Amino acid sequence: MTSTNDINNVPVKSISKQKILLIIISLTVLSIALVYQPLPDNFPQPWKYRFLSFWAHIFSKLGYLGEKINLFDRIHVLRFLYYITVGCFQIRNPEHHLKIYDRRILNVSVRIYEPEELDHMDKMPTIIHFHGGGFLLGCRETYDQVTYALANLTRALVISVEYRRVPEHYFPAALDDCTSITYELFKNADKYRIDVNRITLAGDSAGGNLALVITQSLIQDGYSPRTACLIYPALQFFDFTLPSYRLYLPRSILGVINEENFLSVMSELSESKVKVTPDILFNSHTSRQDKIRLHPYVDAGKYLPISFPFDVDQEGNEDLIPHLKFLISPKMSPLLVPDEQLMKLPTILLFTAEFDILRDEGFIFAERLQSLNKTLYHHHFGTTFHGSHLLLYGPLKFDIAYEMVEHIARKIRENL
Ligand SMILES: *[C@@H]1O[C@H](CO)[C@@H](O)[C@H](O)[C@H]1NC(C)=O
Ligand SMILES: *[C@@H]1O[C@H](CO)[C@@H](O)[C@H](O)[C@H]1NC(C)=O
Ligand SMILES: *[C@@H]1O[C@H](CO)[C@@H](O)[C@H](O)[C@H]1NC(C)=O
Repeated sequence: MTSTNDINNVPVKSISKQKILLIIISLTVLSIALVYQPLPDNFPQPWKYRFLSFWAHIFSKLGYLGEKINLFDRIHVLRFLYYITVGCFQIRNPEHHLKIYDRRILNVSVRIYEPEELDHMDKMPTIIHFHGGGFLLGCRETYDQVTYALANLTRALVISVEYRRVPEHYFPAALDDCTSITYELFKNADKYRIDVNRITLAGDSAGGNLALVITQSLIQDGYSPRTACLIYPALQFFDFTLPSYRLYLPRSILGVINEENFLSVMSELSESKVKVTPDILFNSHTSRQDKIRLHPYVDAGKYLPISFPFDVDQEGNEDLIPHLKFLISPKMSPLLVPDEQLMKLPTILLFTAEFDILRDEGFIFAERLQSLNKTLYHHHFGTTFHGSHLLLYGPLKFDIAYEMVEHIARKIRENL
């Protein structure tokens, strides 16, 4: 018996070893082939980006599938994934001398980062921070890495606002929360030991949008924020034919900023959950009248070196227009305001990224401010992608993230 076993075992073992090796090699080749996408030479950590994009894309697809068969709620799963990949790698280093605590201001939750050396000050320089995430994702937890580093590097008080999100709460819930908390801090600055003359409103993506909208309304009401720091902000939902949309939606930035998800986000943002159709990429969500009225504020032909013709005579899609009207209000699209209003803005710190559908609205905003001789600091991160400054620590760390946050913090510090 033993001898037969031996005879049988030897060849079986060596075959299975070869097989395993073959399978490993094939899987490696297959996965490299699957994740491969061409990227420019100077792209930061291209293979990490490729793998991350691949898996983000798979999870995004699984999200739709799971929702279709009523397995789970896609947004909640995405929020959870966002948390376990970014949010839970939080740093707490006593050498950084930061006091960190959560509290409520009015009825909104915030996380506060207070540099210890400000203990004795009764007028602290302050950054009010609004996180990004398309009004759907993101929270003070997932942004902890960024707000922590901002406080550590600027040595200012950072207040990270936990505003209400879609789909639990629709426009203007997020804006209402951020507005009420900001006004409270301006009105009762003494009570919070805040220097009312040294407040910066900061945010990225949807948070940059909130920061600019609120800066505009503060100024109209006679308050003077020191600066607004806008990191690849969403500034307009009016013209989706800007070159950066045309260029980067088909490339699916990070595997998730693509046409399917863009249409889905637009539909999620509207309270009626209207099914948004691809014609929105040709601006079918606005009427002819609105096109004529608003186009001068986002005139790509005037403000960008390259642009596509804008069809002002296009009538738009009656099924979308009434449901998406809120998108082109200046409360949602702060770029859609006349020059007289931009004239009143404080110093703007604007950061844009190349691989970003929002690149061109940032450029247009910069051009408009420059033509008005406004004080603007604009830095274009020419080799990185939307959202990259979030990936500071943990397995998804990109080296460029820290460089970005350092640069942003330095500029805030110089202007606060
Ligand atoms: C906070 O209070 C305002 C005004 O009372 C209300 O409109 C808003 O819904 C509240 N926000 C939260 C997060 O409960
Ligand atoms: C905190 O600040 C110190 C001093 O500027 C710096 O050396 C360190 O890298 C910073 N750490 C983080 C996490 O920002
Ligand atoms: C901006 O400055 C230039 C050069 O000084 C001047 O010609 C132009 O009229 C100014 N524009 C505005 C809007 O003030």
